[in-house]
Amino acid sequence: MRIAVPTETTAAETRIAATPETVKKFTGLGASVSVQAGAGATSGIQDADFSAAGATITPNAQDTLHDADIVLKVRRPVGHELSLYKKGAMVFAAMDPYGNEGDVDAMAAAGIDAFAMELMPRITRAQVMDVLSSQANLSGYRAVVDASSEYGRAFPMMMTAAGTVPAARVFIMGVGVAGLQAIATARRLGAIVTATDVRPATKEQVESLGAKFIAVEDEEFKAAETSGGYAKEMSNDYQAKQATLVAAHIAKQDIVITTALIPGRPAPKLVSAEMVASMRAGSVIIDLAVERGGNVEGAKAGEIVTTSNGVKIVGHNNVPGRLAATASALYARNLYAFVETMIDKPNKAIAVKWDDELVKATCLTRDGAVVHPNFAPKPTADKDA
Ligand code: NAI
Repeated sequence: MRIAVPTETTAAETRIAATPETVKKFTGLGASVSVQAGAGATSGIQDADFSAAGATITPNAQDTLHDADIVLKVRRPVGHELSLYKKGAMVFAAMDPYGNEGDVDAMAAAGIDAFAMELMPRITRAQVMDVLSSQANLSGYRAVVDASSEYGRAFPMMMTAAGTVPAARVFIMGVGVAGLQAIATARRLGAIVTATDVRPATKEQVESLGAKFIAVEDEEFKAAETSGGYAKEMSNDYQAKQATLVAAHIAKQDIVITTALIPGRPAPKLVSAEMVASMRAGSVIIDLAVERGGNVEGAKAGEIVTTSNGVKIVGHNNVPGRLAATASALYARNLYAFVETMIDKPNKAIAVKWDDELVKATCLTRDGAVVHPNFAPKPTADKDA
């Protein structure tokens, strides 16, 4: 049972998929773990830390990967990297498969068994493996920290001898895992916080964190949550009503943080150029959905855009990677929790239960084919299903 942890091939990726803590646990289960030299550097983990935990440090990707049965990664393998994997190697990563079907096909063609961690069902048993939650929580926190550093004013109200400083007004759009953490963080910094979402269940959550809920609460809103707990794409009519309500509110905000996503769809456009233009100079917008098309008109992935009226629109890529050490620690634990279920402990061997619901939900490719129902070629009769 050989486990490999190669260096991420995308320069923008600062996280790593294993830590000394998880390496120690894997070796405790009888695995031998190879970590590519320097792979932990951007997460503040030295090769010596991995060695001390029982890993072998390998000089390059080829030596790390060639005989690995299990490969732990943050991002899916692409291009030349795929030629370094052993056929039948099981690869665990945030595969980001939607919109990247060509890369999913390439993983099948390379003969690897690819598991997309972000497709993990959100059931109690799998909470510990939920990479979307562990990383989104950190994104929500970091969005507020980034906003406060871009904002030229203070967050809390301060009554000083030189006069009173007003509290910042922070508006969170989209109250999933990231949005809830953003509310909590902005509240801790002393801001006046409001939030909106299309899922009715979020109203109580927002209020329990001490923020005010703002939304068009009509019949469509009352039915806007899927059985899986996600948002539905709203009608044009609802979106227009939502935009009118939000427009009046945004004009009075200092900070807007958007986190709205719909699984498998482009991010909904929530903040128009007119809304941005209505904000006062020095205001800051953080678009956490920028890598999925963005919630904010004018947001650019990887850039901070300053508009002609002096509003900063921040579109950082890979926000969890801006907290690489913490993000890696949690991500590595998520991976360990899943991979551990595939190890037969008494025999110290890999034993995948292919009909387990977590395995079926996450397995994209197997034995040279794309096997996940959302990505596998559909029979013609099912074309519109
Ligand atoms: P997400 O990242 O898919 O979306 C973020 C938020 O954007 C969601 O709250 C969504 O309702 C909202 N949104 C979508 N369209 C919008 C619009 N037009 N206007 C305003 N907001 C909009 O969501 P995330 O964070 O992945 O959470 C999704 C669900 O999963 C939630 O119900 C959450 O409580 C649940 N969950 C369950 C877990 C479990 O049971 N293990 C773990 C984590 C989350």
